[in-house]
Amino acid sequence: MSKGIFPIDKFQKIPTPFYYYDTAVLRKTLDTIKEEAGKHANFIVHYAVKANANAKILKIICQSGLGADCVSGGEIRAAIQSGFSPVHIVYAGVGKSDWEIELGLDHDIYCFNVESIPELMVINEIAEQKGKIAKVAFRINPNVGAHTHANITTGLAENKFGIAMEDMEYVITEAKKLKNIKFIGLHFHIGSQILEMSDFIALCDRINQLQSQLEEHHIVVENINVGGGLGIDYDNPNENPIPDFKSYFDTYAKHLELRAGQQVHFELGRAVVGQCGSLITKTLYIKQGTYKQFAIVDAGMTDLIRPALYQASHKIENLSSEDKVETYDIVGPICESSDVFAKAIKLNACHRGDLIALRSAGAYGEIMANQYNCRTLPQGYLTEDL
Ligand code: LLP
Repeated sequence: MSKGIFPIDKFQKIPTPFYYYDTAVLRKTLDTIKEEAGKHANFIVHYAVKANANAKILKIICQSGLGADCVSGGEIRAAIQSGFSPVHIVYAGVGKSDWEIELGLDHDIYCFNVESIPELMVINEIAEQKGKIAKVAFRINPNVGAHTHANITTGLAENKFGIAMEDMEYVITEAKKLKNIKFIGLHFHIGSQILEMSDFIALCDRINQLQSQLEEHHIVVENINVGGGLGIDYDNPNENPIPDFKSYFDTYAKHLELRAGQQVHFELGRAVVGQCGSLITKTLYIKQGTYKQFAIVDAGMTDLIRPALYQASHKIENLSSEDKVETYDIVGPICESSDVFAKAIKLNACHRGDLIALRSAGAYGEIMANQYNCRTLPQGYLTEDL
């Protein structure tokens, strides 16, 4: 079984559990994004801050030249503090509070991705009070499915996100009447952890159809924001550390029918940071149950909630043992039956004190950690911190 390469000696000095970010992997990922997106003159990539807002990670991503996609006032602040220029910040979310809209306007962010008419009205009102013009894109629910977990699909008519396609023209026409609103584009996002390019092609087809419809009414769109969603290889992080950005960007270049001068914006989260991060935990006990053998580790669903919440699978490696493999359920210490990282997996024989890595945890890991059971939040360390 191939394993990742980790500075294990250095790990021994750090209290577990913690997140470890391999910055060589992160930088290579960012270089690949730059190279592949750069082949298409009008492609602009934003990083979806929700995936990981660790300040040091944000700084590296900002330095590589990506913009930021935020979904809360807190994320706008985190992005600005890490160096992202407000002119490269887009802000989405179905429930923007007044203070968050004010914050966005005060910083003159690039664009509000608006998800309903009532929200549009409030943005217009607050912008008027401030004497500002809010740039907006409408998030359209394209009713396009995605081959991914039901909890992370967002582009179906039954989901709470976006404005229904049939209301699109009405909403744009209304927006054009508002004095403190400037309509600058359309926004879409069909879901996350998508590996089948056919799903993105379906989105392109839908966007092409909507654009033609708008043109019939002489409505011109400056920007198309296609959201994020590109998945990573959770099963083989060592063999596939860099997601297939070439296929991803080429798919959009080939299938999206752009009008003159149009820009395409992307909001990638998981694909940017997923593979560079691992949750490092220590084995506390090996317990023989009636039917099973448990490896009880000191990380729990409070540190990495994805397996409990989405039945997500993260590759698990015993970094301290090369002993013959045995079968284990890997479980945490939280008082919940769903606090299970994996069932019946094969792992080099575990002993008390062994370091275990849960791989591909850079996205939606540290940022979703919580303090249930009065636990402390896990720290995040980059290669150069150790
Ligand atoms: N843009 C919008 C509007 C989004 O809602 C999302 C993710 C993204 C971009 C970034 O998507 P990505 O490129 O990361 O797939 N916590 C879940 C994932 C939730 C994704 C929410 N929206 C997980 O751990 O799988």
